[in-house]
Amino acid sequence: MSTPGKIHVGGQDLELPVIEGTEGEKAVDISALRGTTKYITLDQGYGNTGSCTSKITFIDGEKGILHYRGYSIEELCEKATFVEVCYLLIHDKLPTQAELDEFNELLDKYSLVHEAMLHLINHFPYDAHPMNVMGCLVQALSSFYPGVDAKSKTEHINLTAARLIAKTRAFAALAYRKSKGFPLVYPNKGEDYGSNFLRMMFDTPVKHYEPDPDMVKAMNILLILHADHEQNCSTSTVRLVGSSHANLYASVASGIAALWGPLHGGANQSVMEMLQNIKDKGLGIEQVINKAKDKDDPFRLMGFGHRVYKNFDPRARIIKDLCRKILLKNANSDPLLDLAIELEDKVLADDYFIERKLYPNVDFYSGLLYRAMGFPVNMFTPIFTVGRMPGWIAHWKEMVSEPGGKIGRPRQIYTGYTNRSYPDISERK
Ligand code: ACO
Repeated sequence: MSTPGKIHVGGQDLELPVIEGTEGEKAVDISALRGTTKYITLDQGYGNTGSCTSKITFIDGEKGILHYRGYSIEELCEKATFVEVCYLLIHDKLPTQAELDEFNELLDKYSLVHEAMLHLINHFPYDAHPMNVMGCLVQALSSFYPGVDAKSKTEHINLTAARLIAKTRAFAALAYRKSKGFPLVYPNKGEDYGSNFLRMMFDTPVKHYEPDPDMVKAMNILLILHADHEQNCSTSTVRLVGSSHANLYASVASGIAALWGPLHGGANQSVMEMLQNIKDKGLGIEQVINKAKDKDDPFRLMGFGHRVYKNFDPRARIIKDLCRKILLKNANSDPLLDLAIELEDKVLADDYFIERKLYPNVDFYSGLLYRAMGFPVNMFTPIFTVGRMPGWIAHWKEMVSEPGGKIGRPRQIYTGYTNRSYPDISERK
């Protein structure tokens, strides 16, 4: 433990303990603040508030570092499969071959969708948003497979984790196929998770779909890149809901609701909408760049810059080359992809963006990759959900396994009316 933090609040001197993480991050532990001084802290958006300690993911935004369980994202993307990363996040270790085989068996086994759930899907409107369908189906799992909550044995939680990772992929594919009126496709036993996901999406009885190896590689990397990002909005939601001892399915379903918001999981969609808008209006790239640089114009280039990563986004760096390769392979097949290549080239050579360190972020490339793979825009966030599921599960598991866990319950500063007397209805205006 580091030197205590000294503060002077409400006329009192207080020594507060400082907690230090394994990577040197420091926090002032204010647990005793209100009890001693009657003051609370106010931190809208939680930019300065640590809600927990965690052993899962480390981010250093200044240095562009992202680690899962101590392994760098670069090494995981190069050497691991998404399924290994799921295992790593949930079990805190990379699987041995035997453990991986067993985990893959579970993913095959749990890919089956209960017939009654298929009936549920059939009752959604054909144009229902796939995030809504996925959220409802994941929530409904707690009726089909009840009893996984904070008191469950670790083995039971681990089986449920595998069930969720298998079913989320099936639900994402199903939600898409439902919108198209296509029949359900089950995964091929023994085939890797990413290839199966692409086949479950795009195979039809009249046109066999054979996944392109570059696309499979891209799918694996995209899922790994999205697998966790510590205490973001959806993960914090999962923890908060889970802190009430809500079951695991209900907790991660709340994460799906949070991820659906355009400020969280929807940025890659904004990139595609921006490109579509440029094309529809017939704008030139120079014109768009000048608009983004104009301080009197609120327009910003979507997919450029990042709030946390100030020097570079390690995730964007990883998929940049792969994205280029796939885009060039598909050159001239999609005007939006050609526009994206032109935009990226011009921005990277422009002084305004160079000086402000505004480089393409992960959402710029992920949206383009999803598009090149054939995913419609409304499937971008569902794919993010498939990738983020192991992260949510790992955080829920970590939280419920900690002794003395408390229900999450922030406080507030009340700014409304003070005591008023109740008027009769005839006197109200
Ligand atoms: N286009 C044009 N100018 C930009 C952009 C952009 N995309 N992003 C930042 N700038 C400019 C700002 O106008 C500002 O210029 P100034 O110094 O002359 O005033 C400077 O760069 C710094 O910008 P800030 O807003 O201070 O940067 P901040 O870190 O607060 O914002 C953010 C980061 C929100 C991501 C911003 O870059 C942005 O709006 N990007 C576009 C939206 C986007 O791609 N979001 C997805 C982010 S990735 C993710 O969430 C997973």
